[in-house]
Amino acid sequence: MNGRPVGRIVGVGRALGSRVVTNADLEGVLDTTDEWISTRTGIKERRFVDEGENAATLAVEASKKALEHAGVDGESVDLVICGTSTAPESMPSVACLVGEEIGAPGAGAMDLAAACAGFSYAATVASSMLRSGAAGRVLLIGADAMSTIVDPKDRSTAVLFGDGAGAVVLDAGEGDSGFVDHILGADGRGAPLGRAGHPGDEEKLFQNGREVFKFAVRILPDMVEKLISRNGLSPEDVQYVIPHQANARIIRSAIHKMEIPEDRVVINLDRFGNTSAASIPLSYPDIYDEMERGKYVITVGFGFGLTWAANLYRI
Ligand SMILES: CC(C)(COP(=O)(O)OP(=O)(O)OC[C@H]1O[C@@H](n2cnc3c(N)ncnc32)[C@H](O)[C@@H]1OP(=O)(O)O)[C@@H](O)C(=O)NCCC(=O)NCCS
Repeated sequence: MNGRPVGRIVGVGRALGSRVVTNADLEGVLDTTDEWISTRTGIKERRFVDEGENAATLAVEASKKALEHAGVDGESVDLVICGTSTAPESMPSVACLVGEEIGAPGAGAMDLAAACAGFSYAATVASSMLRSGAAGRVLLIGADAMSTIVDPKDRSTAVLFGDGAGAVVLDAGEGDSGFVDHILGADGRGAPLGRAGHPGDEEKLFQNGREVFKFAVRILPDMVEKLISRNGLSPEDVQYVIPHQANARIIRSAIHKMEIPEDRVVINLDRFGNTSAASIPLSYPDIYDEMERGKYVITVGFGFGLTWAANLYRI
């Protein structure tokens, strides 16, 4: 436990690419089947960005919704942090573009690249900034447009990913609600297992699916177990686990190991695919109204790098 909980979630929002792409749509253009995609991954459909959309436009839309949900102005935000690996340009950052669009000139703004663990990393940084007093209100975003870095003709990756953004407004807050513990990790020896360039690059995303799968099934339940045990909690204290949404088989295997009932593990990959840094915050609008004070939410990310990160949040 890192002391008092800090970083209360006071508003949530999300945005998705406007093009709905079902497995049946992909059957028409790739040597694949709905049956293969559904059984091997759990994905039924995903959303791709359309003309004029990208990770930044999705981040802006999600952020505006989160601020509206919180009932606060962009002006009141001290810091914008966006977990993303698919910024439309290297510079300016997505966070800077968001700051401009929400009317927060002068607020700090930065992107954080940790692949599919980007949101979990960014949440750790955000709550640390709140804890230190460097910021009083943070707009925390996970946004990725994976379709802009994936080869649409490569069936082994094109069926897996989707485009979206999720945003949360975090207040330093007083009281007993907020982030209490974090895990951050990375191992660059795993770099060859997954690589991708920037949107527009000729070379597209590559991964060794089987090896990434093995890493994920190990690291996901490990992090959950660690956060529960080192904070003196029991699985019953955890109302929701929100895992990164890479593959339903990874999540099922983790459920088996975690002693957390299946209905407390939040899933969105059937609708959205693997949205990388957006996959965790995309879930908040689905559960926000059900979150029970005093219970806990564990969010767990893992991705290329290799990277991994998790957060324990007291509701
Ligand atoms: C990618 C993934 C779904 C592949 O599932 P898998 O069961 O490991 O499948 P394999 O890669 O072993 O491929 C099995 C077969 O299906 C084929 N295949 C791959 N994609 C296919 C598709 N879309 N449709 C039909 N067949 C496909 C392969 O060519 C292979 O055929 P072969 O046996 O004739 O060579 C799975 O490994 C995975 O989810 N890994 C984790 C990926 C991940 O999380 N990445 C993001 C980082 S967070």
